[in-house]
Amino acid sequence: MAQRAEASGWKNRDVIDILDFSREELLELFGETDRMLEEGGRSSEPLKGKIVATAFFEPSTRTRLSFTSAALRLGANVIDLSAEVSSLVKGESFADTIRMLEAYSDLIVVRHPSEGAALFASEISSKPVINGGDGSQHHPTQAMLDLYTITRLKGGVDGLTYAVVGDLKYARTATSFLYALTKFRPKKVYGVCPELLRPRQEVLKRLEALGLNLEMGVGLEEIVGELDVIYVTRIQKERFPDPSEYEKVRGSYRIGRSLVEKAKPDCIILHPLPRVDELPYEVDSTPHAAYFKQAAWGVPLRMALLKLILSG
Ligand code: NCD
Repeated sequence: MAQRAEASGWKNRDVIDILDFSREELLELFGETDRMLEEGGRSSEPLKGKIVATAFFEPSTRTRLSFTSAALRLGANVIDLSAEVSSLVKGESFADTIRMLEAYSDLIVVRHPSEGAALFASEISSKPVINGGDGSQHHPTQAMLDLYTITRLKGGVDGLTYAVVGDLKYARTATSFLYALTKFRPKKVYGVCPELLRPRQEVLKRLEALGLNLEMGVGLEEIVGELDVIYVTRIQKERFPDPSEYEKVRGSYRIGRSLVEKAKPDCIILHPLPRVDELPYEVDSTPHAAYFKQAAWGVPLRMALLKLILSG
């Protein structure tokens, strides 16, 4: 295991759960991200000679490629496990696979469908492990990116009114984002979703214990005029144990142009992407659309994270 919650500072730190990071640490990360965005990182190549491994056991475009791009921009090299053509198909275990990556690299970014996989990897590996999303609760670097985007566009996270919309049961991005908000002082946080996609009881209890009062049971139409940030996710079809349950909620919400027109002029819309039908292309040209900036800033944010972890 590298270092986790008890860690002081960033060097060699595992990134497993957004709740392991303090508000001060997140603000430090955002300051470093600003510097990365301004300088681009290439000038000094602070990670020259380092090797970052990506091990994705689930599909990914943004997380895998932004980590790869971030590592390359800092002068590191990247090796990719490519699960479908590795010895996993011969039956090699996850644990043995992680042991190999530990030997071949300086840091491992892992994505996995099972909750707890990244923590398990961090217990096996003496090299730092970054959770690129596991199961339906944790995607800490996405939550860091979400908060960074809000900080950059709205001047901070505190004092704003949020709606987290969509799949609050299976979308780890939504849950991680809600956990991340507990580190700040939002004015109000609404959870807007169909009944079948309500957050798990365990998540609601944890949020409450952390002091976040998630207001459920309102419709987006009623509250859209109050919102500063709309955070929307797709329905995570692949996580439904029963396809007929998915059919019941398919297409049940949509942030269309007619809704967005009722929002405050400076309300921003975030989406971790990919989108399916919940956020139509017609919204892209409105001043509210912030999701492409959010995705693009994934590179400087992950540059800052890799630099802090690998070179302190
Ligand atoms: C998300 C994920 O994998 O949780 N993607 C991402 O990293 N931006 C969101 C999703 O798949 O809906």
